[in-house]
Amino acid sequence: MNQAAEALTGPRPFDEIPRAGRMRLVRALLNPQGERVDMLTPLQNQYESCGSVVRQPLGPFRMLNLFGPDACQMVLMDRDGILSARDPWTRIMGRIFPNGLLLRDGEDHKSHRRLMHQAFRRPVLRSYLERMNPMVSSGIADWEKHSDFTAFGAVKELTLDMAASIFLGVDLGPETLRLNRAFEDMVAASMSRLRLPIPGLEFHRGLEGRKAMTRFLTDLIPVKRAGEESDMFSLLCRAEDEDGTRLSDTEIVDHLVFLMMAAHDTSTSTLSSMIYELARHPEWQERVREEATAVGRPHMEYEETEQLRSLTWVMKEVLRRYPPLPVIPRITTQDFAWGGYEIPARSMVVVSPIHTHHMAEWWTAPFQFDPERFSPERDESARHTFMWIPFGGGPHHCLGFKFAEAQTTKSACPGPRSWPGACPCSASRCRSSSFRSTS
Ligand code: HEM
Repeated sequence: MNQAAEALTGPRPFDEIPRAGRMRLVRALLNPQGERVDMLTPLQNQYESCGSVVRQPLGPFRMLNLFGPDACQMVLMDRDGILSARDPWTRIMGRIFPNGLLLRDGEDHKSHRRLMHQAFRRPVLRSYLERMNPMVSSGIADWEKHSDFTAFGAVKELTLDMAASIFLGVDLGPETLRLNRAFEDMVAASMSRLRLPIPGLEFHRGLEGRKAMTRFLTDLIPVKRAGEESDMFSLLCRAEDEDGTRLSDTEIVDHLVFLMMAAHDTSTSTLSSMIYELARHPEWQERVREEATAVGRPHMEYEETEQLRSLTWVMKEVLRRYPPLPVIPRITTQDFAWGGYEIPARSMVVVSPIHTHHMAEWWTAPFQFDPERFSPERDESARHTFMWIPFGGGPHHCLGFKFAEAQTTKSACPGPRSWPGACPCSASRCRSSSFRSTS
């Protein structure tokens, strides 16, 4: 139906929205890992066969995929205040990471975001980078000792150590190892399909990890409130609204644990994908090395990381190809119409950065690794404000994106020394991030 006809007849009923094939659901149930590894192909198939509004057959539960940058803009901006982030994210991770910033809506979300912003201002980011610098140097020096190593594991260890130091202000040592383990159990539990608190199960380990972490952090709050340190924990303890309101102990713990989770997997994934692509594209590795060498010293200031133009394009291209949050869910709180269809309240609507980032209508050769598409001369992402959305957008736009950019560019940067590595695998879809040193 064309738009003029649609304007006369109004949106069509929900039941007429094209449905994705039931076989997809069966395949997902039989092979849950399959879709986690390749989320893009099923989404592309749905878009090609059904269009930009697609219903998922999920029994009585209403779930829709909305495709394209306009849909991303509408959902993420939520100008009418009818899309809840709290509801879907609480269902997904609320038992392990309750009351985090993303699990809040409306005024409650706004006031907490304002308070938390104090731990993400530019001068604070500068001081985080100062803490990061020596950790990255010693981490990379350690990687260089090994002739064979898997980037993902090494990067994960590095980002966990950074989180302990920058987020919590805790020195590295046996305590950090225990905390890291508790935290990893929590992250694993938040993805568990079997969410039963039975000893021995992954989910139970996550709940126990949460208890241990909560105890540890709560005990530290009085010291952090009284001190003058500049780690994220201390800053949240001292953050104050214009009227002097502060976060309660429980709120501090909930926000801190959520922040660590929001930062951890995303940065680990981005950084290992950057190393992976740099290893596969030696010409880009060389460009990046030349730029970093021009800075002239391994320990960079925050502003200097922003000047690494080629590395910034590599990071953007990696976030386009492999966005750590491939899909973003919301739940509608009111009926509304989109794409010519009625969408009732209590429906889950999902937009997909990973799909939007590969739409041939918007990107030139979307499956090609081409960081220069982000150069000012070509900037393809300027064609639509919501066509490059690895950090989301609107009121829930990633609070830590500047931190993430500084952390990943700083850590993937080879500096004046050589960055060892050549991906031993030539398969185009290989994401093993396993490297053999060439030095
Ligand atoms: C490359 C790394 C990262 C990526 C790709 C990423 C991506 C995202 C995305 C897509 C969202 C929005 C989710 C939604 O709208 O439902 C989000 C929210 C958020 N992220 Fe990040 N993130 C990254 C790193 C970080 C870091 C390092 C931190 C903290 C230090 C952080 C803290 C947050 C917080 C607090 C929110 C919730 C914001 C709100 O609800 O107002 N993220 N992130």
